[in-house]
Amino acid sequence: MKGSAIRELLKLTESPEIISFGGGMPAPEVFPVDAFRAATERVLLKQGKQALQYSATEGYRPLREWIAKKMATYGIESAPENVLITSGSQQALDLLGKVLINPGDLILTEKPTYLGALQAWRAYQAEFTTVPMDQDGLQVNLLEEALTAGPKFMYILPNFHNPGGVTLSLERRRKLIEFSDRYGVPIIEDDPYGELRYEGDHLPPLVVIDSEQCRNRPGRSIEKSSYYDESKPANGNGRAYMRGNVIYLSTFSKTLAPGLRLAWVVAPVEVIERCTVAKQGMDLHTATLNQLIAHEILTGGADGDDFLKGHVRLIRDVYRERRDVMLTAMERHFPPQVKWSYPAGGLFLWVTLPKYLDAAALLTEAVARKVAYVPGSAFHPAGDGHNTLRLNFSFCNPEKINEGISRLGEVFSEAIERHEGMSTEDAFSTLQATI
Ligand SMILES: Cc1ncc(COP(=O)(O)O)c(C=O)c1O
Repeated sequence: MKGSAIRELLKLTESPEIISFGGGMPAPEVFPVDAFRAATERVLLKQGKQALQYSATEGYRPLREWIAKKMATYGIESAPENVLITSGSQQALDLLGKVLINPGDLILTEKPTYLGALQAWRAYQAEFTTVPMDQDGLQVNLLEEALTAGPKFMYILPNFHNPGGVTLSLERRRKLIEFSDRYGVPIIEDDPYGELRYEGDHLPPLVVIDSEQCRNRPGRSIEKSSYYDESKPANGNGRAYMRGNVIYLSTFSKTLAPGLRLAWVVAPVEVIERCTVAKQGMDLHTATLNQLIAHEILTGGADGDDFLKGHVRLIRDVYRERRDVMLTAMERHFPPQVKWSYPAGGLFLWVTLPKYLDAAALLTEAVARKVAYVPGSAFHPAGDGHNTLRLNFSFCNPEKINEGISRLGEVFSEAIERHEGMSTEDAFSTLQATI
């Protein structure tokens, strides 16, 4: 395992005088501190002994039930047996790597993709093949060639991509599910940001489209002919077990608080069972206290089940404003040669500089001006994408966003001016060095 020079540089950006667009951190101003304080008190009063005890690896049953019910509101009839609670989605990625990846296995990802997944799966000696994205997400017309290389699974972030900022269109979601089914390549759908939509209509998750398209599809083997697992009796609540080609991940990190380290996997029971064994060896179970507090916040307060809805509405308002402030500031301060994505939700914007610029080299200049971002090569499995970078718009307040973008505009404008002032020969060798 290797550390990364970029991570080392980004550590410098943690000091308070740096305006950091680097991390994917929620705005601390919106953390529901009072709701946590009240819920913690209620849990300790009502269930103190249980909350401080070891608990089941699969997770706190009432929380699994709550998640299965929430999935049903999306249109997926999962049972609590289809749900595993994990210590963050990052752990879910690691668990799935542990269960699914043999050394040398090929994983298909979008290009760019989430750095944390690459980090987790490189440790299991995975290799990567990539398919590029445009403003409508993964370019599914380029998928077939990558699928013929025989990847073990696809890793897809359909909503408000990290780092790409784009959303996979409904038409492409349907095609992607068709390809997954036709080539027998399952999908890991990572959806931490799905609820943070600032405009437009909610699009169904891949797991839902898979359930619609694969249910009773004619001409399929008995094993695959039903989306629900007929070989297992329904559980005590009469709920069928789901199966299908998609493993769905989501998290409370962006809607409640990342410090909770609480997330979930929804998958066929066979996958949940194997991940549970892997999790036992990793941490026995996710913190009982945190699970009980989260469950209490979600169900036990004065607003009961409505707490999360109301809270997510607040987060959306705050982040929508920050996104718009950043977009307006970029229009004002970035030179015309710089392009960026337009995110309908989530936390990130993806920026493309002219080909001859190297975002990692420019980060040193940006940090000298006390502003930071993540260079895009970190999100490319093959280390390319030198002229790209990711900006986060959730963490800094509007005033800091304006100031930080103005400083970045200076860094980029000066770099472009320097390049344009070069002789053609020098410019050509710089371009060669960066591609
Ligand atoms: C795409 C994606 N997956 C997983 C994670 C990890 O989330 P968690 O805090 O639940 O571990 C993140 C965090 O930013 C993310 O962006």
